[in-house]
Amino acid sequence: MPFSSRWPAIFLDRDGTLIEDRGYLRCVSDVVFYPETFSALRRIKDRYLLFIVTNQSGIGLGVLSPEDVELINNHIVKTLAQEGITITKVYTCPHTRDQGCQCIKPNPYFILEAAREFNLDLSRSFSIGDHSHDVEFGRNVGAKGIFLLTGHGQKHRHELPSRVEVAGNIEEAIIRILKEDMDSQEKEGMIRQAAETIQQGGVVAFPTETVYGLGADAFNPLAVARIFEVKQRPFFDPLIVHVADLKTLDRLVERIPSSVLRLMEHFWPGPLTLVLPKKEEVPDIVTAGLSSVAVRMPKHPIACSLIEQASCPIAAPSANPFGYVSPTTAEHVREQLGDRVDLILDGGSCEVGVESTILSFVEKDPTLLRPGGIPLEEIESLIGKVEVRLREEKISAPGMLPKHYAPRTPIRIHWSEESLKVYQNKKVGWLAFQKPSHGLKFSHIEVLSKKGDLREAAANLFSAIRRLDALGLDLILAEPVPETGLGRAIMDRLRRASGIIPTTQDSIHTFRGKGKGRYTSENLLNDRRLEGREEDGQKK
Ligand code: TXA
Ligand code: MG
Repeated sequence: MPFSSRWPAIFLDRDGTLIEDRGYLRCVSDVVFYPETFSALRRIKDRYLLFIVTNQSGIGLGVLSPEDVELINNHIVKTLAQEGITITKVYTCPHTRDQGCQCIKPNPYFILEAAREFNLDLSRSFSIGDHSHDVEFGRNVGAKGIFLLTGHGQKHRHELPSRVEVAGNIEEAIIRILKEDMDSQEKEGMIRQAAETIQQGGVVAFPTETVYGLGADAFNPLAVARIFEVKQRPFFDPLIVHVADLKTLDRLVERIPSSVLRLMEHFWPGPLTLVLPKKEEVPDIVTAGLSSVAVRMPKHPIACSLIEQASCPIAAPSANPFGYVSPTTAEHVREQLGDRVDLILDGGSCEVGVESTILSFVEKDPTLLRPGGIPLEEIESLIGKVEVRLREEKISAPGMLPKHYAPRTPIRIHWSEESLKVYQNKKVGWLAFQKPSHGLKFSHIEVLSKKGDLREAAANLFSAIRRLDALGLDLILAEPVPETGLGRAIMDRLRRASGIIPTTQDSIHTFRGKGKGRYTSENLLNDRRLEGREEDGQKK
């Protein structure tokens, strides 16, 4: 099944993009197509629906009549048709820049109208033109904008927002689109291969919106055992099962309380994991013998496509060695697990950057087990007060271990000048929230968000820690962030990275005492440690 059965589209500006910009056009004899327009559009006409979106402010100024504009538009559509190129529809904005129009600047009104009428996939669509609004109105609805240097492009180039693609002319722009199209088809092929790997019992690293996951068929215990092996993760640590639709939940959970349904409707797909009473059939290795299972529907298109194509729920922890910082790029996974996984899907940097929020519905009241990508405030505004249980008697999430998400370099979030004296001649790194400046001298500084934006800071957190950790520093000092919204997840990870969230020694000893050294898939299936949990009264 392809990414989507909807059409991608290209929204083309008229003057300065398809034809020379010769001012207010009233006569068809004034229309001069760029020499490359026809051949460029022919290359792409069978893969994309083509639209023209043109701003004819001459109408608003009273120097052109709507009929003048229609005459020229019709001529252009007819000429293109003679060249074998179909324009699906032409949209004309008749306003001047100061008329506060609803059409173009940078309101994506026409694009949204076209998307509804022609069932478009905007995430695979483009808007092209020689004014900044031509690219912005596409970007505002998740399409990509390409700015052209033809027409008024050279003159308006300085008005462009950041990170806009610039092309010399329409042909260059189309070549770029074709290249992206090819790349995504290649990605499609990779996803299919990854799905087959999962079906055959393999282990695949894949991107989600939070962090990269290491996935296997949740109903294949041997495949799931390989995840533990690759990560060197202890078996007492249960996994999250990822689904792509609600129907699959029937195979995993016993019943869904109405407040949970509301959360699913509101936050799925997205970074919220729900712990619910499990169905008998869910293998014990997935849940570490617990009577509950953690489920989530990720939002990343590659993750969704992978789960759909594999036709099974995918059990997946983060794709890092146990206890280390989670990976937020495919490169992070390659560095640490590279040759130990069957395949790595590359979906770029993870948008959220910290793991999902975990909410348990096993006991009477909903309980937060791990702060993450969905802020607690948003959850509480939907279902009311939530218990917070991050310091656990019984460890029900490994994020609850006293040291987790930790770099090799010691990291501290509390210090006194006195305690830093021993580091005077050593290499110390500074993980700043917003401002790089600080009284101390540092070997290296990472700033999480210059704007002081907690979402941006969360997205950068793990990459920044990894960069610092690669420098061979003696110490990393981390600046605390405000504990609201995503700041709660950031501070939780920083505390655990620095090992300052205590759990009771008892629970740690329980697991250490039962450890048999290496965890392998051979000794797994009759592993007595899982039963050990029950003896310890840990099974709920
Ligand atoms: O964002 C995420 O959640 C990422 C991506 C890959 O989806 N996954 C992730 O998985 O962070 P992992 O394994 O690193 O963390 C899973 C957490 C653990 O803390 C685990 O203990 C908890 O989920 N968990 C799983 N099943 C549970 C259960 N039945 N009861 C309580 N906690 C559970
Ligand atoms: Mg993890």
